[in-house]
Amino acid sequence: MAEKPNNIVIMTGSGISAESGIATFRDKGGVWAQYDYRQVATPEGFEADPDLVHRFYNDRRRALATVEPNAAHLALGQLQAGLAARGGSLTLVTQNVDDLHERGGVENILHMHGELLKATCVYCGDIREWRENLSTALICEICKCAGGMRPYVVWFGEIPRHMEDAADALMSADLFVSIGTSGSVYPAAGFVSEARALGVDTMELNLEPSENARHFTAAAYGPATEIVPAWVKSIL
Ligand code: APR
Repeated sequence: MAEKPNNIVIMTGSGISAESGIATFRDKGGVWAQYDYRQVATPEGFEADPDLVHRFYNDRRRALATVEPNAAHLALGQLQAGLAARGGSLTLVTQNVDDLHERGGVENILHMHGELLKATCVYCGDIREWRENLSTALICEICKCAGGMRPYVVWFGEIPRHMEDAADALMSADLFVSIGTSGSVYPAAGFVSEARALGVDTMELNLEPSENARHFTAAAYGPATEIVPAWVKSIL
């Protein structure tokens, strides 16, 4: 591994937000233990019962307003500034739809699964900031159609966003780090193999070894609020 990597790509998952009080998906008692993802995180589910889907995201949007970024989010903000100060770069690709990376100071984040604090209209494609509840009663301000406002979130079966930009960043990286993800969902789970194929060093920072653990050339395990700041300190 380059002793002082300068161009880093980081992929994060819900584990980095766990200590802020946001539930992960597949840990014990996680989101998918409480909800059937087919009902609340697929286009078919939205078609079948839009009110249930709005309730699911309205609850998560309201909860997000009550939590704070944790030491791991803040450490990545410091990492991005520190790398830029020495002519390097941090590209952050996240599977998370929360805004805790933004509030932790990271810029130009690639939200591959969309953003909880944005909404889009299925009829005209308008995308806008949205911090209130969504419902089927809403009228789109642009096309004036009713019932088409939905969370700007990528559901199962839909195409993740910013994959080109992420792949470009990986091409010029000297380190790929995966933080707080179980490596269960593609294409995010495939990034480590892409990095290795490009000859990029790979590292996993997670509470425990993920399903992808064997693909990483380095790793540190423990709570993100402990291992991420320690790792950032070793880089800057
Ligand atoms: N610190 C570090 N890692 C943690 C912590 C913590 N405090 N708590 C949990 N983790 C780890 C778990 O060990 C697990 O490997 O975070 C990971 C969470 O995995 P998942 O619950 O599967 O969440 P994630 O990998 O983000 O899911 C990916 O699946 O359902 C979709 O769209 C959803 O973006 C999500 C995607």
